[in-house]
Amino acid sequence: MSNSVGLKLGSLSLDVPFFQASLSGYSNYAMRTLARRFGCPFIMADMMLAKSAAHPRVLRKAVFRPGSDEHPIGAQILGSKPATMAKAARDLVAVGYDVIDLNFACPAPKVLRRGRGGALLNDPDTVIDILKAVRDVVAVPILMKLRIGVDHKPESLENFWQIVSRSVEHGVDALVIHGRTVSERYRGKADWDLPAAVKSRFPRATIVGSGDIFDAAATVDLMKRTGLDGFIVARGAIGNPWIFRDLRSVWENRPLPGPPEMSEQRDVIGEHFELILRDYPEKKAVGIFRKFAVGYVCRHPRRKPVLLSFMKAKTRADVENVVNTWYADTYPNV
Ligand SMILES: Cc1cc2nc3c(=O)[nH]c(=O)nc-3n(C[C@H](O)[C@H](O)[C@H](O)COP(=O)(O)O)c2cc1C
Repeated sequence: MSNSVGLKLGSLSLDVPFFQASLSGYSNYAMRTLARRFGCPFIMADMMLAKSAAHPRVLRKAVFRPGSDEHPIGAQILGSKPATMAKAARDLVAVGYDVIDLNFACPAPKVLRRGRGGALLNDPDTVIDILKAVRDVVAVPILMKLRIGVDHKPESLENFWQIVSRSVEHGVDALVIHGRTVSERYRGKADWDLPAAVKSRFPRATIVGSGDIFDAAATVDLMKRTGLDGFIVARGAIGNPWIFRDLRSVWENRPLPGPPEMSEQRDVIGEHFELILRDYPEKKAVGIFRKFAVGYVCRHPRRKPVLLSFMKAKTRADVENVVNTWYADTYPNV
């Protein structure tokens, strides 16, 4: 495999074979901006309920629209009604999204109870009806996010293969496959053999893998072993935009840049918080930021007290104080 090959998602060509996943509650403008800055070529926005996206007032809010500096950017939609999914897709493309991704993977109980997300993996007819309805109304690339089945029962595997083969037949531009079942949620190690088997059975289809992408060198080896076209970065990017710099370096056969210095961490964390404040009121911004702090502190030699200080922070000044104290060149040695 030549490391110069990128990834084609229908008419969209990326120069490297990876991008950032939709991460519900995380993949807002701030996270996307930093990911792009560190070399991510394409990013998915936060998952949206199709019913909400199809509502005329919702897409007027800036927070749900792509920034002018964000292209190419994809929108992921969740729903079970082909007409609603199609309307949402059309409206999202109208406000500037470049790619539509259909979510048939979400394992959240409230989503499954309503027959959405991962629940649809046991309903191939509806999945294909949704794909066709969306295909009929938008000309942009369409991706589908799948898990490898609802569970490990033989009929779930049969449904998975049916969805794969029928969606390829109906011209899906890429399948993004998370190598866990819905009932496994995030437990255990992701299975990359089944996505690899999909690629060998449908060599002309674009198959993108997902699961346990935390380390750049290991991921590039995985790509070579499985023959997949690409992969998405999910938990590995939370509080860690540097993963894209590492992935790019390894993919382009350059040496790993090495971990960011404390001063770089301080600048990036500070900027991340500022970017969140751009879109959310202070209290909400602090809450959102805390979810990323969990990732950022992993690099700190005094991880526990730093995390505790971030978790106690309630205001903008508190967060800034934690950053200035713990990410100073000489941080407290407690
Ligand atoms: C907090 C969180 C939110 C997620 N939200 C979404 C989402 O909105 N849409 C989606 O397709 N996948 C979502 N995922 C799943 C990821 O895209 C990915 O498939 C999964 O985390 C496996 O990759 P990883 O092991 O590298 O994290 C989410 C995962 C996490 C941990």
